Order: sequence, then structure tokens, then C-alpha cells
Amino acid sequence: MEAHLTVGRVAGLTGVTVRTLHHYDEIGLVRPSARTGAGHRAYSAADVARLRAVLAYRRLGFGLREVADLVDDPSADAVGRLHRLRGVLLEQRDRAAAMVTAIDRELEGRAMGTTPAGARLYETIGSAYPATRRTEPRIAAQVWAALGDARTVLNVGAGTGSYEPADRDVTAVEPSEVMRAQRPRDAARCVAARAERLPFPDRSFDAAMAFSTVHHWQDPVAGLREMRRVARRVVVFTHDAGDSAWRQRFWLTRDYLPEAAGLVAGRPPVHELARAIGARITPVLIPWDCADGFFEAYWRRPEAYLDEAARRAVSVWARVGPEAERRAVGEIRADLASGRWAARNPELAALDAAELGLRLLVA
Ligand SMILES: C[S@@+](CC[C@H](N)C(=O)[O-])C[C@H]1O[C@@H](n2cnc3c(N)ncnc32)[C@H](O)[C@@H]1O
Repeated sequence: MEAHLTVGRVAGLTGVTVRTLHHYDEIGLVRPSARTGAGHRAYSAADVARLRAVLAYRRLGFGLREVADLVDDPSADAVGRLHRLRGVLLEQRDRAAAMVTAIDRELEGRAMGTTPAGARLYETIGSAYPATRRTEPRIAAQVWAALGDARTVLNVGAGTGSYEPADRDVTAVEPSEVMRAQRPRDAARCVAARAERLPFPDRSFDAAMAFSTVHHWQDPVAGLREMRRVARRVVVFTHDAGDSAWRQRFWLTRDYLPEAAGLVAGRPPVHELARAIGARITPVLIPWDCADGFFEAYWRRPEAYLDEAARRAVSVWARVGPEAERRAVGEIRADLASGRWAARNPELAALDAAELGLRLLVA
């Protein structure tokens, strides 16, 4: 006589619960072909084989009714059904991928809070940035040396990726979507967040760097403390907003655009920033042919300030407003033509690099 298995034994062999086996029996999907003398379910080898077929179809994702059709009718079009099922699963996969993207956006938005004012500015002026803003190799060498042996580096306020060292594992943080979108395809991965709330655990990086961005942060001290929290070493390139001599030192602010000095009013002076993270301060000289077109870059090439594209890549010009800009540019143009600019700045022609209040903070 054929050996039969109890429901418990079948459950143990196939990995389904006794409850599921009872359910399959009740709906007629897998009925045990016999009962024991005491009325308990008894499964034959054929019953177990049918159960295995049912389970195989279930694993592929078929519903119970379709599984019943397939096991009851060997001529049922299994291949056609698998194709249909595959289509359904692809749709589900695409829906899940879209949901993951939406969740990522939501998480980024929450990490950033409301878009900070500094980033909102770059949403407006950021598209002009890549035209003249790029890594200046002599300044980059100082930043990279200050990073020491750091292997993992966080670049905060990363913009389009200038100054990111190619030989280290870089993660970028940039709140402006316009700036993020302009990063080269092969640039480091970039997270939408802001300095004041870095979405990383303590000590996640060997070093954190910030180049030419601290003056845009809503709360520079909070941002620097965040950098300190997430990294062993901090390297910051910024200008000394507290240096009153700065306005007199640079002919552009001294003679043509005094409004620029007003922009830094109320910002913490550099020694306060340094104290917040225990940093030492080193002056950074600006080479006469600086490749990165920041505000002070053209100190020996005054004609460059007449170039609209060069000005559009520098936030100072947007922040002083069109009237001050028109006036300053008009006066520079006139003084270059008359020789007055050269007469006022005779010492510059012999200088290869200038001290204009730019500083490297290393902690
Ligand atoms: C002058 S760009 C410098 C970009 C880049 N570091 C470079 O050197 O080319 C200033 C950048 O700071 C970003 N920024 C503004 N507010 C910020 C904040 N609170 N946290 C981080 N970055 C911010 C701006 O969106 C902008 O991309």
C-alpha cells in the first residue's frame, strides 16, 4: 500500500505552514488523497508533487486562481502567463524605483530644511558660474596640502566641484539645485544639504573642506562646527570679513565699489570663525593671473571687471545691485581709458601675487 504523509510531515518537508496546507485543501488547490483512520489528512507522493508545483508557481508570483489553472491543466499556456507576469513585475519595479526617488527627494529636502538664502542666490546666478569659475592650481595645492593624508573628504558648499581633489574619495554637499546640475558627470557624488545641518554621523570623514562658501552661510559658526563634528580635520578658504584694512587694500572696493564692504557687515570676523573650530589661520596670496575668477581674482587685470560674464559669476555684483554695478563699471572703464587707474595703482604692475585678505583656516 502507498505510503502517506501527515500534514505536519508535509509542512516540514516543503516549508509551508500547516495552516496554509489546510487552506489549500479547503479551496481545492491541494487536496490530500486519503484520510487516516482517525480522519486526519494523509498526503500521497502525487499530492506532495502537486503541492511542490503549486509552491513553484506561487514563488514566481502567480495568484492562487492562476496557479490552480496551471496545475489542473497541463496544456495551460505557462509561457504566455509568465510573460504577462513579467510585465506586471516590471511595472511594479518601475513604480518602486519612482517611489525610492521620491523618498530620496523628501529626505534631501528634510536634511536641508528651507532653502538657505545663500543657496537661493545661486539658484538665480548659478548658471553663469562655470564660465569663469574654476580651480586655481596654486591655491588648490595649498588646500590639498592642508588636507594632509585624508582619504575621505567632504566638500561643503561644493558648487560645481572646483578644488575637489581627484586622488581622494570625495563627497560633496551643495544646497543649490542649479549648482548641483552643473557638476561634471564624473564629479564626486553630491548630497543636497547645507553646512549648518550636515546629514552625516560624527567623524564620518577624514577631512571636511569649504572653499569660498562660508560667507554665504546663514550661520557660519554653526556650519563650521558641523564640519568639525563630521570630520577629523577641517580646511576652509575664506576672506577676512573683520579686516577693516581690506576695503582700503583692494582698489576695487576702495575706489569703485565701497558697497562691497557693506555686504560683510555683521559677518563674524575670521578669527572668530577660527576660534569656533580651533583653527590656525594662514594668509593666501592671490596670483596675478588667478585662474578662478572670484571677486579679487583680477586685481592686476582691471579690464576683466568690464566683462559682463566675469561679473555674473561673482555674487558680490548681484548683491550690490545693478545701480552700484553700472556706476562702478562705468568709472573703471573711464579710468582705464584716461590712465587714471594706472596712475592710482602704480605698484601693482610689479607684483606677482597680492595679499587681499584671503585666508586658509586649518583645524
Ligand atoms: C562661491 S560658490 C563656491 C562653490 C565652490 N566651493 C567653488 O569654490 O567653486 C558658493 C556656494 O555655496 C553654496 N551655499 C550657499 N549657502 C550654503 C549653505 N548654507 N551651506 C552650504 N553651501 C551653501 C552656494 O549654493 C554656492 O554653490
